[in-house]
Amino acid sequence: MSDEIPSNLGPFVDELNALQLEARTSDEAISLVKPIVERWTHNPDWLDPSYRKALTDEDDHVIYIGPDGHLMILIVTWKANQTSVIHDHNTWAVIGVIQGVEKNQLWQRVDDCSNPNTAELIPGRTVTLHPHDVIAMEPDAIHCVSSCDPSGIDAVSFHIYGRDLRNTGRHKYDHKTHKVEPMLNLDT
Ligand SMILES: [Fe+2]
Repeated sequence: MSDEIPSNLGPFVDELNALQLEARTSDEAISLVKPIVERWTHNPDWLDPSYRKALTDEDDHVIYIGPDGHLMILIVTWKANQTSVIHDHNTWAVIGVIQGVEKNQLWQRVDDCSNPNTAELIPGRTVTLHPHDVIAMEPDAIHCVSSCDPSGIDAVSFHIYGRDLRNTGRHKYDHKTHKVEPMLNLDT
């Protein structure tokens, strides 16, 4: 993981910070952040070749974390054919693809949530994102991600979260064993 921040992403961080997102509901935050992410993913001129190579050499790049932990901006690289675990975020999320293809499999929880260690999940809708596509997720969303560009290009995407993912109390899920476990890392 790298904390390298390309200087030309400063305006992107400033735009998001100016929204005072910590005072917004999830719906408000998503409606404000989504058009900004759409604009920046549509014009990735800031992504110079050397930084693009650095992105594909590592998994996650922390671009910004608000001083109060209320905003997290990552650039995430998924290697070709890499798949994430099933997880939630416990905060709102806006994700915009810069290169490659990301398939989002959403899951629905169908148990009564009475046992914190187990969950019964069924597959929900699938959303395949190409460059310039953006998806937003409410705090209770559960999903997994596959990098699936047919020509084998790594997927690179903006990930904007309402809070630092390491402190949201989120979870990872096994839909076969029904096991639920805490998820403390930045896997997205
Ligand atoms: Fe995620």
